[in-house]
Amino acid sequence: MKIAIIGTGNLGLSIAKGVLHSNGATNMYMTKRNVESIKEFESYGNVTVTSDNRIAVQNSDILIFAVQPSHFGQILEDIKDLLNEKHVVISTITGFSIAKMESIIGADNYIVRSMPNTAISVGKSMTCICGNEKGRKRIDLTKAIFNRMGHSLEIPEEQMQAATVICASGIAFWMRLIRATTQGAIQLGFDAKEAQELAMHTCNGAASLLIESGNHPEEEIDRVTTPMGCTIKGLNEMEHQGLSSSLIRGIVASFDKITEFKTK
Ligand SMILES: NC(=O)c1ccc[n+]([C@@H]2O[C@H](COP(=O)([O-])OP(=O)(O)OC[C@H]3O[C@@H](n4cnc5c(N)ncnc54)[C@H](OP(=O)(O)O)[C@@H]3O)[C@@H](O)[C@H]2O)c1
Repeated sequence: MKIAIIGTGNLGLSIAKGVLHSNGATNMYMTKRNVESIKEFESYGNVTVTSDNRIAVQNSDILIFAVQPSHFGQILEDIKDLLNEKHVVISTITGFSIAKMESIIGADNYIVRSMPNTAISVGKSMTCICGNEKGRKRIDLTKAIFNRMGHSLEIPEEQMQAATVICASGIAFWMRLIRATTQGAIQLGFDAKEAQELAMHTCNGAASLLIESGNHPEEEIDRVTTPMGCTIKGLNEMEHQGLSSSLIRGIVASFDKITEFKTK
C-alpha cells in the first residue's frame, strides 16, 4: 500500500507510527508545512517527508488527512485535480461532513470519514468509520488500516457525533474512573504509584475479559459477586450514589453539547 499522511501533527504522527510499526505501507509520504520535526522519519527508507501535498498525492493511493478543520477545505481544493480511481480519501477531521468533502472534490471519489481516539498513539484506538456511496467499497480496506492501530467499526454518518462522545470524549471519561479508583486505593493504603498500577491494569483486564469472551458485563459481575459479600455491597452502594445514572447523564450532556455546536 502506498499511503500519504497529509498533516503530520499529533494525530497524523500517531497514525504514521502505527502504519510503520505494523509494516502497513510499502511507501509512505508524510506532509506538513514545516517538516523539520518529522525529517528523522526518512531514516525508515520507505518514507518521504515533504511539505508538498501534491507530490504526496501523486505518489500514493491511500490519502489520510489529519489537518485542522480550518485548513482542510483549501488543502482539498489544492489537490483535487490530481485525484483519480486509485485514490481513497480518508479524513480524520472532526465535524467535516462527507457532503462538504463531496462539494469540493466531487462525489465520484472514494471518500471515507474516520474518527479515531488518542489511544491510536499506543495502537489501541476505537475508530469509527463511514463512507460516501463510492467510499463504502473501500470500508474494508480502511478498516484493515485502522485495525492495525486498534479496533474499528463502520457506522452511519449520522452517528459520527454520538461516536465522538463515546470514543473520543470517552477516553476522558474512563481516565476519570481510573483516577477515582486510584484515589480509593490510596485511601486503602497503597501509595499513589501502586494505586494507579492496580487501577489501570484492573480496568485493562476488565475490558479484555469482555473483548475476548464476548460476554455481557453482568455475566462477569456475577462471577465476582458472592451473595452477601463485599463486592455486591460496594457495587450496590455505588449505584445508590448514582454511578450508572451519572455516567449516562454525562454522556447525554456531552452529546447535547456536540449537537449544539453542529447546529450553530
Ligand atoms: N488528536 C486527536 O486525538 C484527534 C482525534 C480524532 C480526530 N482528530 C482530528 O484530526 C485533525 C488533526 O488534529 P491534531 O490534533 O493532529 O492537529 P495538529 O497537531 O494541529 O496537526 C495538524 C497538522 O497539520 C499540518 N498542516 C497544516 N497545514 C498544512 C498543509 N497545508 N499541508 C500539510 N500539513 C499541514 C500542521 O503542521 P504544519 O503547521 O507544520 O504544517 C500540523 O502538523 C483535526 O482535524 C482533529 O479534528 C484528532
